[in-house]
Amino acid sequence: MDFRNQVLALGALAKADADALLVVLTGTKPPQGLPRPIAGAIDAAVHHGDLALKASRTLYAGRVAGVKAPRVMFAVAGDESPRAVKAALVPALNALKGLGARHLAVALVGASGPTAAHAEALATAAGDAAYLYRHTKPSAGPAPRLSKITLLSDAKAAPDVTLGLRRGAAIVEGVTMARELANRPGNHCTPTHLAEQAQELARSADLKVDVLGRKEIEKLGMGSFLAVAQGSEEPPRFIVLRYQGAAAHDAPVVLVGKGITFDSGGISIKPAAEMDEMKFDMGGAASVLGTMRAVVRLKAKVNLVGLIAACENLPSGRSVKPGDVVTSLSGQTIEILNTDAEGRLILCDALTYAERLKPKAVVDIATLTGACVIALGHHRSGMFSPEEELAQQLLAAGDAALDPCWRMPLDAEYDEVLKSHFADMANVGPRAGGAITAAMFLKRFTGKLRWAHLDIAGTGWRSGANKGATGRPVGLLTHFVLAQAQNH
Ligand code: BES
Ligand code: MN
Ligand code: ZN
Repeated sequence: MDFRNQVLALGALAKADADALLVVLTGTKPPQGLPRPIAGAIDAAVHHGDLALKASRTLYAGRVAGVKAPRVMFAVAGDESPRAVKAALVPALNALKGLGARHLAVALVGASGPTAAHAEALATAAGDAAYLYRHTKPSAGPAPRLSKITLLSDAKAAPDVTLGLRRGAAIVEGVTMARELANRPGNHCTPTHLAEQAQELARSADLKVDVLGRKEIEKLGMGSFLAVAQGSEEPPRFIVLRYQGAAAHDAPVVLVGKGITFDSGGISIKPAAEMDEMKFDMGGAASVLGTMRAVVRLKAKVNLVGLIAACENLPSGRSVKPGDVVTSLSGQTIEILNTDAEGRLILCDALTYAERLKPKAVVDIATLTGACVIALGHHRSGMFSPEEELAQQLLAAGDAALDPCWRMPLDAEYDEVLKSHFADMANVGPRAGGAITAAMFLKRFTGKLRWAHLDIAGTGWRSGANKGATGRPVGLLTHFVLAQAQNH
């Protein structure tokens, strides 16, 4: 997808040179300053009841006499915020992508903008609309023809628009990569496949990559990670991706991704219904790869390391069993009471590994708990951090990217339930507060790290009619990493 910026006064909209023109009306009053044919079409549509000036309404007007673009569409945003504009763009772009247009021009009317955030919202909405999963379904047909989008603005807004489109285009690349990998089924997207994807990204983007196999993971002493991996014939992979955008001595930001390519639950096996969705249990890992892609594309002046622990969680004669005790890389022992709480078991060793990188911040990303879905639903990711500043930075990054999160508590009282008679800790507590106790478990492995945890169980993919990965939280993470680059 190609994003451009063009200076064109509102009064000249009828002359916009594109296959389609999308006019986004912000606010509930009829807009001012539009050329006659467009203003007339809006007035008529409103008068005849075809277009209500209400949030997220759209109207495809087809050809409008006096307008150069052969297809005209209207969309209404509830207000001029980037969030409302994006909510209006989504249905409009979904309708437009089914048409023959290749080049779409977009104008924002009634807003004092567009700003960089509006431009970014347009880019990410368009990237989402244009994505089509074809890897194991080539019959899904060709990708939508829509491949070029021009955001029209006045001269004053143009530099901001250029900035926002550039950032948006990079996020689209990262989100698309994350969606694509997470959508691939477990028999295609194995730990080995994830490692190959990381290697390919490294080749194309000037990153350094190390991939460790079972032997090397054993040698490191990641007994907790290996306990999860041991039930599967599919070999585990520990992936280390490095991007250097700042001086070598500059402490890196580290992103840690949960890469369970299929989570059956293991011996504590899950019910059959919807178990297929556990192929998405590597969404955290996919978001790490996608974010690295976006950050490289933006040439951010920051050092960034991605760590991915990847394996399957399956029942077999070799599987770890409830009651087994394992020794983590940190030396702490863990009684595995439930083999389905496997995410924390692979992440704890990756977090301990992160300490040797002497990072300025570590963020882990994981489809960690069903309890987080109960707590926050599918809109905001769960965010946990004992560090006030880091928490605020992540909240701000999520808001800026329209990829929001919500801070959850980490009081010491929640830690009680992890006590074990036979090891330093158990890997689960009771059902109540399950997202928090999972985070408390991870916290035991973070030592002096400036650490945060994102639980994306509710936001990483959609179920039902639109089943598929969302690519979240690549937007949030990209904004966060960019802010870290500017912060020093
Ligand atoms: N990958 C799942 C979490 C999950 C479940 C995400 C459903 C989205 C939808 C994780 O490995 C898991 O199984 N967690 C258990 C933890 C429990 C055994 C303490 C859960 O949430 O049920
Ligand atoms: Mn599980
Ligand atoms: Zn899992």
